[in-house]
Order: sequence, then C-alpha cells, then structure tokens
Amino acid sequence: MSHDVLYCHWNQLLMVCCLLVLCCVANASEPASPGDLFLGLTPDARQGYEAILNRPMGRRVMAIADLDRIWQVWEEEEREKAEVAASDERRRMLFERYGWVQRPDDDTFDLPLGYTDDGQGGLTINCFACHGGKVAGKTIPGAGNTHIDLETFRVDLLRLRALNAGKDPFEIDTTPPLNVQTNYHKGSTNAVVIEVLNYVRLNPEVLLQVLVQPDMLQHHDMNAPAWWTTKHKERLYIDGFAPKTPRQNMPFARNTEQWDWEARWQALEPTFVHIFQYIEEVTAPEYPWEIDRSLAARGQRLFEQTCAECHGTHDEEVNFPGRIIPISEIGTDPVRLTAVSRPNREWNNNRWMQYHGEQPLDLESTGYVAPPLNGIWASAPYFHNGSVPTLWGVLNQQERPVVWKRTEDGYDSTKVGLEVKTFDAVPPDLSPRHRRMHYDTTHTGNSAAGHPFPDVLSADEKRAVVEYLKTL
Ligand code: HEC
Ligand code: HEC
Repeated sequence: MSHDVLYCHWNQLLMVCCLLVLCCVANASEPASPGDLFLGLTPDARQGYEAILNRPMGRRVMAIADLDRIWQVWEEEEREKAEVAASDERRRMLFERYGWVQRPDDDTFDLPLGYTDDGQGGLTINCFACHGGKVAGKTIPGAGNTHIDLETFRVDLLRLRALNAGKDPFEIDTTPPLNVQTNYHKGSTNAVVIEVLNYVRLNPEVLLQVLVQPDMLQHHDMNAPAWWTTKHKERLYIDGFAPKTPRQNMPFARNTEQWDWEARWQALEPTFVHIFQYIEEVTAPEYPWEIDRSLAARGQRLFEQTCAECHGTHDEEVNFPGRIIPISEIGTDPVRLTAVSRPNREWNNNRWMQYHGEQPLDLESTGYVAPPLNGIWASAPYFHNGSVPTLWGVLNQQERPVVWKRTEDGYDSTKVGLEVKTFDAVPPDLSPRHRRMHYDTTHTGNSAAGHPFPDVLSADEKRAVVEYLKTL
C-alpha cells in the first residue's frame, strides 16, 4: 500500500532512493503490447468484489490480535473509557476512531470492510478502506469512505510498535516523513500526494529538491469519488487526467516491502480485470426516505435548463458529457490541479501502468470534470475535497459553513447530506484527533468556494432542484 511509505522515516527514505539507483538497471523488462486491456479474460464483477475483500495486496499493517489491545495507546480520556468498556463496545469505539466500516453482513464489528485478513494473522489495507463507506449508518461498498482517519491510525500504529518494544508510546516522534500527513481532516485522505511521494522516493534528484523545498508536495485532502459514477466516465479522477484501464486501478495494490512493484503488478493484473468490471457494475443506492414527486418534477425541468449542460441528464440512462470546466470558471479549490507535476506525469507515462506510453496521462490539467450526479444524495460531503456537507450548501454559496463537524451517523434530509454542527472557527485546544474532526474550509486545499452556477435560481427553485437530486 503506498501510504505505508509514511510509516518509515527520513533515513529510510534516503536509503530507499540509494538502493533504487543501484537496482534500476534490473528494471528494464517490457511487457507485450497491451492490445487487449482485458488480457483475453471475461471480466467478472463478483470475482472483482471478492478479490478486493479477500485477496491481500498490500503489506501487513497490524496483527489481528492487536485489534483488542490497540486502545492502550489512545489518549488518556479515550483509553480510560475503552478500558472499562465491554469488548464489543470497545470494538465499536475502534471502528469509530479510525473510520472503519462494518462489512455488509457483519453486525459484530469483526473485520472492517477496508481491511483484509492476510491469512497469517495480519491485516492488510484494501480498496474499500477509502472506497467503502456508510451512509446514515448503513454500509455501502463503492461509496467513498467519509469517516476514514488514516492519520490517527498511522500514529496509533507507531505507538503500538513502541509499546511492543517496551518503550513509552507517548514519548516517540510520530512526525511523518517529509511531514506529509495522510489526511488533515477525518473523512478524507491525502491519497494523491501519497501517490506523488512514490515518484519522489523513486527519483533521488526529485527527493533532493523536495528536501530543499518541502512546499513542492502540495497537501490536499480528497474524498474518494463514488464508484457508481465511474462507469459513466471515459477518463478517471476529478481532472479526468488518466485513462480508464485495469492497470490504472492498481497504484494502491502495492507492497512497499517489495522493490519490484511492476513485476508484482503484472502478477495481479488478471485480478484487476475483474476489479475493473466490479467498479463498472457498482450501482447507486436509492434514496430511502420520502420524496415530493411533483416538486422533484419541477426540479428536473430546472436542472435540465441550468445544470445539464455540464452534468448531463439522468433519465433511464445517464447521458454524461464528461466536460472539464476551467478552474477560473468553476472556482473550487485549485490545489489538486497542480499537485501532480508535469515531470511526474512524463515519468509515469513511460512506465508499465501507462502501458509504456500507449495509455498516457494528460500532461496538463486545466480544470475539474463536472461529475455525473447519480446517487449524489449518498456521496456527501461535496466537491472533490469534501468541503461542503450538504446539497443545499452546493446550491447556496453564501450558506456554506466555515468550519463543520459531522455526527457519526446522522443524515440531514432537509438540506440533504451530512448532519453537522457548524462553527466560525476551529475551537481551540483540541487534541490532534479532535481537531481533524472539524473540517476547516480556511485551511489550504480545503476551500469551499466556487461553483456559482446555481445562483441564477431563486430559493424556491433551488428547493425543487434539491428534491430532484434525491431521485438520481
Ligand atoms: C487512501 C485512499 C484510497 C485507497 C486505498 C484507494 N483509493 Fe482509489 N481513489 C482515492 C481518491 C482520493 C480518489 C480520487 C482521486 C482524484 O480524483 O484525483 C480515488 C480515485 C479512484 C478511481 C477513479 C474513480 C473516478 O470515478 O474517477 C478509481 C477507479 C479508484 N480510485 C480505484 C481504486 C482501487 C481499485 C483501489 C484499490 C486497489 C483504490 N482505488 C484504493 C483514494 C483511495
Ligand atoms: C459550468 C458547468 C457547471 C454547471 C452549469 C453546474 N455545475 Fe455542478 N459542478 C461542476 C463541476 C466542475 C463540479 C466539480 C467541482 C469540484 O469538485 O471541485 C461540480 C460539482 C457539483 C456537485 C458536487 C458533486 C460531487 O460529487 O461532490 C453538485 C451536487 C453539483 N455540481 C450540482 C449542480 C447543480 C444542481 C447545478 C445546476 C443548478 C450545477 N451543478 C451546475 C460544474 C457545473
């Protein structure tokens, strides 16, 4: 898993780079021309789903047995609560702390959806850690996980390691390498920059630049997009900069303890043909509460006049134009747009994942894709950085909260999206974990600005559009 890189330290990073310089001569094998992206296989969604859940792909992050003792490294107040809690209540606290989601058929808080038993008493992270969420308390594989807190988990794992080595877990340095946190807020991940770190560590000259100029790594939290929108897209990610291929889904299927990722990826490629198909077949969940159908019908007409030119129409079929809107016009947070540098893209384009140039990444990104809105009620918070908790906020620029904190499982069916408490500023003196639970739109990369297009509508018209969005 690429974020494992964060578990190591400076000197290890440097050593990694030196080793890679020595090893790169051995890294020259060329696969046959891709031709058939599916390798002649019949893609099978069921196999893809099973593989994500059950086939370990990353390295071990912790021992399963430690699930019952990791609470010993929590902050005092939480530790004291856990100590006296019954064991199933303690498990529930564990899930809530790290933003883990129960597997669809599990009511016991056994193994989280996003982690796989490696068959040797350990857990490895899987795609559902970020791509399997819960909405109003109900698990939905394929929804972005908007509860995840990898940073708290990362720090706890380091403390647990210290505890196991007989050290004081609260006295160790838990600063991540290059100071790249896995997330600034609970509910999102710095996944794109975590990926950029791999480019950095494989290119010693870039690492040296980054050491001198740490700002080159632009941190920014993102929400994983709902997989039920992916089938409508021809290119992937919020800026549409990547082709849609089985290999493009593989960056996170990586074991940082093995140097030769490309060989490992080749071995996994058939599995990713099925995972690709699974993602193509994920369907959007239906809105489970009441809908005012006549208001929604009015909203549909307004949507088709005001929104469909960018977002497409959503009748029986989704008719999705895949338009990229220039950043100057959309005005949402710009950090993501420049986070992956041109040299990084060029370097990637020559490698296996881009089929040695045959399925290249775009070298420049100019703006963000207006995404399909099927299942939009279930993918709050909104925008690529998850900065706006409700659809009402998306439609009303002036009413977006500056700082907000969600409840664990509450759903706001009036504003449509997360149930939140709002603040003018982040309250002072919070522990790092509690600070992360307050989404701060004044923080770099987390702006809730932009998307002014609904402003042409009156408040009544907006209510109708929101009602219509529930039906998608
Ligand atoms: C650490 C969190 C994380 C993990 C783990 C992760 N992803 Fe993602 N994924 C993201 C984020 C964030 C994005 C959005 C990136 C962007 O738009 O720039 C994303 C985007 C995607 C997309 C593009 C979807 C679209 O509609 O554009 C696909 C496909 C995808 N991931 C597949 C996978 C697969 C398959 C795995 C497991 C092998 C995986 N991801 C593991 C966080 C993650
Ligand atoms: C000029 C093009 C354009 C128009 C017109 C437009 N949008 Fe958007 N919309 C976008 C883009 C681009 C994004 C992605 C912004 C981002 O994530 O930073 C977006 C994002 C959204 C989102 C959040 C999607 C998500 O997955 O988080 C919603 C909801 C939305 N728009 C609704 C509407 C509605 C309703 C209208 C009409 C009243 C509308 N939009 C009009 C371009 C447009």
